[in-house]
Amino acid sequence: MRKRVAILISGRGSNMSALIGASRQRDYPAEIVGVFSNRPDAPGLASAADEGVPTASRSHKDFATREAFDDHIQTVLDGWRAEIVCLAGFMRIFSIPFAERWTGRMLNIHPSLLPRHKGLHPQQQALDAGNIESGCTVHWVIPALDDGPAIMQARVPIVPGDTADSLSARILAEEHELYPRALAIVARGEAVLPAWHHSN
Ligand code: GRF
Repeated sequence: MRKRVAILISGRGSNMSALIGASRQRDYPAEIVGVFSNRPDAPGLASAADEGVPTASRSHKDFATREAFDDHIQTVLDGWRAEIVCLAGFMRIFSIPFAERWTGRMLNIHPSLLPRHKGLHPQQQALDAGNIESGCTVHWVIPALDDGPAIMQARVPIVPGDTADSLSARILAEEHELYPRALAIVARGEAVLPAWHHSN
C-alpha cells in the first residue's frame, strides 16, 4: 500500500512539484493526496491543481490562535486521510500539540546543512559564515524549529562570486532530487524517528 502524503506549502511549491512528479513513478511508495497552503494566493496551489492533486487553502489570519489554525489543518488532513505530512516551504510554526501529534510522521526540507544555519535566509547565513560548502537537509519535524534529526542531506560547493541567489539555485536543484528520495525511504519504513524524540 502506498502511503498517503499531504504537502503543506506557502509559496512557489517547486519541492511540492518534485514530490508530485516522483509520486507518478511506478513503484514509488507514496501518493500525494492533497496540498494545503496558508496563503490562498500561493503559486504552488495552481501547479498542484494542474497536476490533478486536491488542494485546500485558508489564511492563518482567519484564526484567533495558532491552535485554532492548526486544528483547521488537522481537519483538512483528516479529510485526506493523510499518513505523512511533508512541509515544502511552509512558513508557519506549529503549536506544540499539532507538532507532537505528527512527530515521526512529518518531514521538512531546509536549504542548509543542518544543524548549521537554522531559520531564515540560510543561504546568506552560509555565505556570511565563509563556508566553502552548503546544501540541503530533509529532517524530521519535532516541536523545536528546524531541530529534528536529519534523514538525508545533499552537499553543494560554494564558489567565488556566489550570491544568495546563485547559491539558492544550486541548492534548490539538489532539493528536488533529495526530497523524493527521503520521502521514499520514510514511506517504506526504512527511516524512522529515534524513539527518544517522541513525547508519548
Ligand atoms: C526551499 O528552499 C525549501 O528548502 C525551503 O523553502 C524553499 C521552498 O521552495 N524550506 P519551493 O516553494 O519548494 O519552491
